[in-house]
Amino acid sequence: MNSLVEMRNITKKFPGVTALKGVNFDVRPGEVHILLGENGAGKSTLMKMLSGAYEPTEGTMVANGKEFPRFTPKISQDNGISIIYQELSVINEISIQENIFVGKLLTKRIAGIPVVDNASMRRRTEEVLREIGLDRKPNVPVGQLSISEKQMVEIAKAVAFDAKVIIMDEPTTSLTTEEINHLYEIIDNLKKQGKGIVFISHKLDEVLTVGDRVTILKDGAYVGTYPISEMDEDRLVKLMVGREIKGSHLKNPNKDYGDEIIFEAKNITRKDNKVRNVSFQLRKGEILGFSGLVGAGRTELMEAIFGARPIKSGEMYLYGRKLDIKSTYQAVKEGIVLVTENRRETGFSPYHSIKQNMVQAKGLKEAKFNGLSGLIHEKEEQAVAEEQAEAMQVKCASLSQIITELSGGNQQKVILGRWMASNPELIIFDEPTKGIDVGTKSEIYKLMRRLAEQGKGVLVVSSEMPELLSTCDRIIVMNDGQSRGEFDNADATEEELVRVATMA
Ligand SMILES: Nc1ncnc2c1ncn2[C@@H]1O[C@H](COP(=O)(O)OP(=O)(O)OP(=O)(O)O)[C@@H](O)[C@H]1O
Ligand SMILES: [Mg+2]
Repeated sequence: MNSLVEMRNITKKFPGVTALKGVNFDVRPGEVHILLGENGAGKSTLMKMLSGAYEPTEGTMVANGKEFPRFTPKISQDNGISIIYQELSVINEISIQENIFVGKLLTKRIAGIPVVDNASMRRRTEEVLREIGLDRKPNVPVGQLSISEKQMVEIAKAVAFDAKVIIMDEPTTSLTTEEINHLYEIIDNLKKQGKGIVFISHKLDEVLTVGDRVTILKDGAYVGTYPISEMDEDRLVKLMVGREIKGSHLKNPNKDYGDEIIFEAKNITRKDNKVRNVSFQLRKGEILGFSGLVGAGRTELMEAIFGARPIKSGEMYLYGRKLDIKSTYQAVKEGIVLVTENRRETGFSPYHSIKQNMVQAKGLKEAKFNGLSGLIHEKEEQAVAEEQAEAMQVKCASLSQIITELSGGNQQKVILGRWMASNPELIIFDEPTKGIDVGTKSEIYKLMRRLAEQGKGVLVVSSEMPELLSTCDRIIVMNDGQSRGEFDNADATEEELVRVATMA
């Protein structure tokens, strides 16, 4: 079968790293081609060569039977290649229509003079939005949209210009189950129209559901391309990791942790009422999970505990001592940290190095004079960063690299390392394994267990129920800003959690 695009024997070197060595890849009409590999394996880098953002160091690119040493963004566009980046690239300040046509305005001629053709752009935008099922007006500013809607705007861009190859780099990491199903429908439709889809994901069940073929990368090397029909989860993991991943299931679901309370929340109500009257106790040694639908108030509760949002009433105690936290700075000082689900917006400093990011929380915690003097020594910084990079298995060429040069999953590991370096007492993990590969996922679960065993408080918010069920001793289900039920691990099932989460 003829391929829409092909990459032959591609090698890509960055200073200090060979990101890809001798990789082959192609996309056929009407297929979903999965690109699979651990964090830092080279998936995003390979795709950036298809979009023309990066130039291969060696190898050949082929589009419509024509060979090129590299794709420029123009060649890529002319050959119908459209990419939706891991970190979305829509512009919040302008409308949906403007996002779709930015840099590619439609024009018409009036008396021989080209002018912007607003009517056509509006018509085309409406058409495309209808086609992909996004119920919004073309003039709505993108900043008002949810993450999934922003992603649909990116898809709309591809559809509007009749892209032939659409690349989706981890499109489902921030979506709810319902939104994911909608995305699958869109993908199915695109397939039927003969488009080729490249789909990157760390969720193996998803890979097996949507994929037709899979190409696996391991440490930048080409492992192979296979029909999905020949694959199951175990085979995928073996090919991608080269070893088996042991499940990190809860060893002792009915363990009696005694009565020592590490942390207690009493009747927490947020000023904006997004959380109402929530109380819970965290015992020493246990991991406490929070389940619920998106918008149920889990993240909102954690923000309140972390001092990021004001509370109207309620009390919090750490080791029996009453807390009075009015800012995140005070929370960090008290030993409370929040590993956020959204690394881009609230997680890291994008212009700083790995090392600078790693030492930030520790610097803050040890700072004197209200945070004004947070200096720690160069040598100590290096040691702290080295220790955490090692513990979190961050894949990088050097600790002075700017954090945005890292692969998505490795950025997340740096954030984790940063909080661990501050030696916290209570660690709140909010969707900690988003975009994290299977191997590292089980490392993070082990880290949580280790922290709990060391007597630290561990709270986990997750939308993935298997994740909660395999890591938490107890699970609280939130719904409409309130706590609606509490389960011991032994009594919790996915069905029960969903039932309570959706109770009217
Ligand atoms: N601009 C850059 N400068 C230096 N190194 C880079 C740059 N971009 C990527 N790399 C390196 O190339 C390697 C591959 O990164 P890439 O982002 O392609 O991984 P990935 O497979 O997409 O991982 P993830 O699943 O975490 O998103 C990593 O070691 C990364 O640090
Ligand atoms: Mg990536």
